[in-house]
Amino acid sequence: MCGIVGYIGTQQAAPLIVSGLKRLEYRGYDSTGVCVLSDDAMRIEKRAGRVKDLENIVDIASIHGSVGVGHTRWATHGVPNDANAHPHTDQDGGIALVHNGIIENYLTIKKKLESAGYSFRSDTDSEVLAVFIGMLYKTLGDLELAVRTALTEVEGTFGIVVVSVHEPDMIIAARRGSPLILGIGNGEYLVASDASAVISHTRQVVYLQENEMAILTRDGFSTKTIENVDTRSVVEEIAFELEQIERGGFDHFMLKEIYEQPITFRDGFRGRLNIEEGSVRLGGLGPVVDQLRQAKRIIITACGTSWHAALVGEYLIEQLARVPVEVEYASEFRYRNPIIHHDDVVIAISQSGETADTLAAIREAKLKGATVIGMVNVVGSTIARETDAGVYLHAGPEIGVASTKAFTSQLCVLTQFALFLGRMKAVSAQQGKDLADALEQIPEQITRILDNAEPIKKIAHEYAQASNFLYLGRGYNFPAALEGALKLKEISYIHAEGYPAAEMKHGPIALIDENMPVVFIAPKDEIYDKIVSNIEEVRARNGRVIAIADDDDEHIARVANHVIRVPRTIPMLTPILASIPLQLLAYYIALERGCNVDMPRNLAKSVTVE
Ligand code: AGP
Ligand code: GLU
Repeated sequence: MCGIVGYIGTQQAAPLIVSGLKRLEYRGYDSTGVCVLSDDAMRIEKRAGRVKDLENIVDIASIHGSVGVGHTRWATHGVPNDANAHPHTDQDGGIALVHNGIIENYLTIKKKLESAGYSFRSDTDSEVLAVFIGMLYKTLGDLELAVRTALTEVEGTFGIVVVSVHEPDMIIAARRGSPLILGIGNGEYLVASDASAVISHTRQVVYLQENEMAILTRDGFSTKTIENVDTRSVVEEIAFELEQIERGGFDHFMLKEIYEQPITFRDGFRGRLNIEEGSVRLGGLGPVVDQLRQAKRIIITACGTSWHAALVGEYLIEQLARVPVEVEYASEFRYRNPIIHHDDVVIAISQSGETADTLAAIREAKLKGATVIGMVNVVGSTIARETDAGVYLHAGPEIGVASTKAFTSQLCVLTQFALFLGRMKAVSAQQGKDLADALEQIPEQITRILDNAEPIKKIAHEYAQASNFLYLGRGYNFPAALEGALKLKEISYIHAEGYPAAEMKHGPIALIDENMPVVFIAPKDEIYDKIVSNIEEVRARNGRVIAIADDDDEHIARVANHVIRVPRTIPMLTPILASIPLQLLAYYIALERGCNVDMPRNLAKSVTVE
């Protein structure tokens, strides 16, 4: 949530910050602002809207100075308007701050400041912190000390960057709960919410740890805890290439990421899957193999799309490893004092590795003694670092706010995890080999679906003006139905619900009439006949049926209004193939409706607030 870029060096800061903000816009995109220092003064330009809206009004090249910060906002406190946009300043306008997160006790601090005569220009929690630092600076006369003192009183989460005309050759950054990284250049340093903002300048980065502060000057940087204990930082190399965060000829990041799936899926099993032996090598789980073998229960916790993947994981692990699995929304898990035993294994699934609820859930699980595993995409992210062991998704950077390739990679990793565990238990080499064989064919099968997108475009055109959609599936494809519905509502703003197909008759069937498109996921598995009966029930009430079916299913066209064909695979892997046309359907419907596919309203890519 929100993107931050700070720069100190020898180049003009403003254009550099603005280009970094453009790369971070997927994290938040309701307002933009920059602050640049020059000659003991600072210039702030901020507006509601996207980075390009700011560029349209302000000549960025006219902002001179080689120290500055910028921010692209995802509002939590106060509507997205010019005044609430960051940076925020202290009372005297000598200190500027950008903030990601929520200051939970901002009202208490605000009251104190108001009774001391301070006033405010915005509705944000962030401005309160800026003014508070300013007040402390007046008595302490030292910016670092003022920031540190303020932060010890603050409750909530923050990634902040502070600059000041009082100490113009320095940037201060600090984090608790919101990610920040330092970009290490030659005589220049950057600080940003993630590596995509710095990669065009340097590949050397330092991940700031929880409760850590960094002081950056042109000559170097130092890190310490907020309590002022020096820390040692490790310089790491960014794990992706610049091209991976560019659109590369596609109209949208989402479309690019959908089309990357044959490759990203393969990257998820390359070097892990042993087809000959029907086994999987997951090196990252080395430290916890014994705990896994002995686990009495597995709890998977996640949010959104990752939670849908977790539901598929539940079916897979129970089927192959015969270990009971529970799936929990991280936001619920963290607050309900869950019963966790030391022989439980908790798995956190997250694309970003920064989701606040998921992070809090794993901290709770660790506190209660469980072994905690991460299935994370972003290398070096907080969840990846805080788990006892993990398996990276290897999907590469996902920029489109609606998750696509990360979902299929999550299913790829979960399938292998289930096989890994299953082979330690009841799964035979032959069963393992059959699964591994089928998994190996998936990338080529995805390519075949992607090569045949025309019928999906036509269906999208026909139903783009619908107000509601129902997505139905059974077994492994119930979670795929949930995910299909989520994709549609996120980017097209059409109300959509996913349901287990047989549950339809217990309520949602009341919604069905000639205006209701119903998407059925209907692979030829052991419950195919049941799903066909559910299709008949919808048709009997004049509902419009779009069926995702096997390419050799001749019967389905007789019962469905439209059929989208996918190659045949084993039942366990059907949600992977079914999700590809569902992603394309959502994408083309959103396009028909003129929606902003990559930056849908109200959303942000990485949800680092509760
Ligand atoms: C997916 O399309 C979403 N925008 C969202 O539900 C997302 O899956 C969720 O916020 C979890 O994110 P994570 O995987 O980065 O933890
Ligand atoms: N809470 C702050 C605000 O609403 C920061 C939000 C963000 O992370 O973008 O302005």
